[in-house]
Amino acid sequence: MDKKPIDRKQLIKLYLDYFKSKNHKEIPNHSLIPDNDPTVLFTTAGMHPLVPYLLGQSHPLGKRLVNVQRCIRTVDFDNIGDTYHHTFFEMLGNWSLGDYWKEEAIKMTFEFLTKILKIPAKRLAATCFIGDKDALKDDESKEVYIQLGFPKERIAFLDKKSNFWGPAGKTGPCGPNTEIFYWKLNDKSPPKTFDPDNENWLEIGNNVLLAYDKNESGKFDELKQKNIDFGGGVERIITTLNGFEDNYLSDMWFPIIKEIEKLSNKHYKGNEKSFRIIADHIKASVFIIADGIIPSNTEQGYILRRLIRRAVRYGRELNLKNFMKKIAEPIFNIYNDYEILKKNKHKILNELEKEEIKFLETLENGIKEFEKITKNKKQISGKESFLLYQSYGFPFDITKELSKEKNISVSEEEFNKELKKHQELSRTATEGKFKSGLSDNSEATTKLHTATHLLLAALKKVLKNKDIHQRGSNITPERLRLDFSFDRRLTEEELKEVEKIVNQKIVESIPIVCEKMTPEEAKKQGAEGVFENKYSDIVTVYSAGNFSKEICAGPHVKNTDELKNFKILKEEASSAGVRRIKAVLD
Ligand code: ALA
Repeated sequence: MDKKPIDRKQLIKLYLDYFKSKNHKEIPNHSLIPDNDPTVLFTTAGMHPLVPYLLGQSHPLGKRLVNVQRCIRTVDFDNIGDTYHHTFFEMLGNWSLGDYWKEEAIKMTFEFLTKILKIPAKRLAATCFIGDKDALKDDESKEVYIQLGFPKERIAFLDKKSNFWGPAGKTGPCGPNTEIFYWKLNDKSPPKTFDPDNENWLEIGNNVLLAYDKNESGKFDELKQKNIDFGGGVERIITTLNGFEDNYLSDMWFPIIKEIEKLSNKHYKGNEKSFRIIADHIKASVFIIADGIIPSNTEQGYILRRLIRRAVRYGRELNLKNFMKKIAEPIFNIYNDYEILKKNKHKILNELEKEEIKFLETLENGIKEFEKITKNKKQISGKESFLLYQSYGFPFDITKELSKEKNISVSEEEFNKELKKHQELSRTATEGKFKSGLSDNSEATTKLHTATHLLLAALKKVLKNKDIHQRGSNITPERLRLDFSFDRRLTEEELKEVEKIVNQKIVESIPIVCEKMTPEEAKKQGAEGVFENKYSDIVTVYSAGNFSKEICAGPHVKNTDELKNFKILKEEASSAGVRRIKAVLD
């Protein structure tokens, strides 16, 4: 392997250049907050923004795409602290939308790893899907690896648990995958036979063979087209190339670790878990705020709050206070290629500081409450530990640690029972969304997407204001929700008029026309769009006659008459200068 280690930016450039040389077009690194997708809170993989195209819609840039995508995964929230799981990470991704298939995909991945990155082929191994009632055994991928020189002993066949990816939610694109592993111990030659359970074999690349669409009843329907979805973690590949065994020693983590050492006067060695959690959670928080979220008690804002508070709590273990801003500082330097960080630096640091100060207040009050609760007691009930959690923002592990010091017993099970009760009551929606996955392309949501366009156009017309623009949209199969810029409540008459116009457009049976053009052309034609956002070189524009024209990834109906009848349920304030309308079709 090359002696001189490469850094994050070099790896990304090598990857993009290689796939561009194989006729891939680069797509933007999308926001961490998905557009128009009520089924996920965050972008968890590069394929999220591509769901409509994986299902068959044609992509304006063609059938071969590549990018690096920022991702947030919180399924491992409680496991952060090991050497290779991160809440925020970057994923190298290349896609074939019904174009090349297994053989070409595997060969390109292999060439990139061995020729471009110069990883010795003799340190590699692979896994393929073993086959079951839903999909056949993947002997074809195995044959490709054999052709590439992999010994048979280095190819393992595994079941669905390990070698089947997606759907990220309940339904959507999914398929068997084939992964490439790297033997990470430098001082030992790799064993002849690959053992997927030996953790010195590190997964560094994953080709998902997206050939199925899991439907509502759990059946795997074959997709119209066979897609490739490759993902490779930037952090892991860099760690591999540098011969490290701990991701936090690499260039995108170590400056943060150093800063924690400096501020706390403690060594990383011996305090790894606290250091890693603090570094991980602050980095994730910086990026989430950069993409427009602030701490709150709902949805993405709630995840952000948990991340910041957990970092503050671990900071307390290292005697750190008022430290968030300082530890965040190196992140802006590591990721100085992200405009959103540069642009929002002041806001990011300010939000981190505000939330830290807020939690420090409840943290100290919570400790007082804890003392009160435990006076002359030998145990804390689930209700009490839950009170600390709910009213003082106390994570359960603080209660547990304090209890241990005082020799008081506390049951995690009881706490979880209370937590669950509460979650079921008030956070079902958030948790459900968070766990489920891909964008919903059902008939109901497709219709509501088109209705949202008609609604926005009708609002401009009735309020005689061209400066009304979409500020947010959230569509479920049951209803649409549109946030738009406008500074006062709408009158009953205005709402009636808006409803009337939308229904009129439905009755007029206007065909929805989909065209591809440059963002400049779209702007010239007066299409709605958020032009300061980074669009691809070519965008999709949907129009309903002369009435509505918007840049949008869809999906949309073919004709407005499919919508039947439009009804506004509610109009209210969303935030300063932004109103919100909820509406349905029946
Ligand atoms: N979507 C695939 C993954 O996340 C590539 O691993």
